[in-house]
Amino acid sequence: VTSADASPLPAERRRAGLAEQERQAVRAHSDQADEFASRYQRLAGDPYRSCFAYSRHRLDDWLENLLPPRGEGLRLLDLGCGTGHHLARYAARGFDVVGLDGSMEMLRHALRILPGAALRRAGVDALPFRDETFDVVLSIEVLRYLPDPQPSLEEAARVLRPGGLLVATAAPRLSLNGYWLVNRLATRLPVPGLVRLKQFFTTSLELRRRLRGAGFGSVEVHGAYFGPVNWVERIAPRLLPGLLRGWQRLDRAIADRPFIREFGNMFVVRAVRDSRPSVGRAA
Ligand SMILES: C[S@@+](CC[C@H](N)C(=O)[O-])C[C@H]1O[C@@H](n2cnc3c(N)ncnc32)[C@H](O)[C@@H]1O
Repeated sequence: VTSADASPLPAERRRAGLAEQERQAVRAHSDQADEFASRYQRLAGDPYRSCFAYSRHRLDDWLENLLPPRGEGLRLLDLGCGTGHHLARYAARGFDVVGLDGSMEMLRHALRILPGAALRRAGVDALPFRDETFDVVLSIEVLRYLPDPQPSLEEAARVLRPGGLLVATAAPRLSLNGYWLVNRLATRLPVPGLVRLKQFFTTSLELRRRLRGAGFGSVEVHGAYFGPVNWVERIAPRLLPGLLRGWQRLDRAIADRPFIREFGNMFVVRAVRDSRPSVGRAA
C-alpha cells in the first residue's frame, strides 16, 4: 500500500474534522464547568442582572408552555445536560430523568445537585440507549456546539417513542446580536476574550427541514427572546438591568413573530417524533 493509497478520503477527513470539533466543544465546556455551575447558582436572584439570567428567564417561559407540567410516568432525557440545572428541575416535577453529556466535569456538577441521578457520559450523536426509550428529549444550548447536528437529531428521534416530544434550542444565523459573524471571525482570528469554537447557526426553515429529515413531524420553531442586548452587557453593563426590565414587554410581543424571530437570539423547537417505524435519513 503506497502512502497515496493510505491517505484518508475527503469524506473521512470531513468526519474526522467534525469529530475533532465536537471533542473541542466538550473540552471547552469541561474547562468552564465551574463557571457554568456558579452562573446557575446565581440565577435565583434578579433575572435582569445579566444576559445569561435574562435568556434563561425567557427560555423558562417557553419550557413552561412546551413541556407537560408534571412528569409522573414520563421518561425524560436531557441531552447535553451540563451541570444538571434542568435535570434537577424536571426530576422535582416527577419526571424519570436521565442526563447525558460528553463532559465528566459537567456531570460531576450534575451529580452534586441531583445526587444519585442516572447520568451517562457519551457523545450526543451516538446515544447509549435502546430505540423508543424516552417520552421527552430536552436539549438546551447544545445543537449550537455541533458542527453537524443531523446525527444528533436522528439519535434523538430514535430514542423517543413514536409521538414523543423533542424540545431543543438553536442559534439563529441572522440574529441581530451578530454572533454568527463574531463567531466566524473568532474562529479565524485570535480575538482575545472570544470563544474560538465554530458554532452552528441556522434559520427556522433549515431547522424545520432538518427535523423532518430526522423523523419528526409537527415541528414548531419559536423565537425565545430578541435584541442585541449582549452588546449592552459588554459595553455598558450597569445599564443592562434597567434596559432589560423595560425591554421585556416589547420582547415578549415581538420575539416569536414570523420573520422577526429569524433575527432573535434563540430558537426554541418543539417537535413530535413521527410514528413511522424507520427514522428517515434524508435532510
Ligand atoms: C452550553 S452547555 C448547556 C448545558 C445544559 N443543557 C444547560 O442548559 O445548562 C452545552 C453542553 O453540551 C455538552 N456537549 C457539547 N457538545 C457535545 C457532544 N458532542 N456530545 C456530548 N455533549 C456535548 C457540553 O459538554 C455542555 O455540557
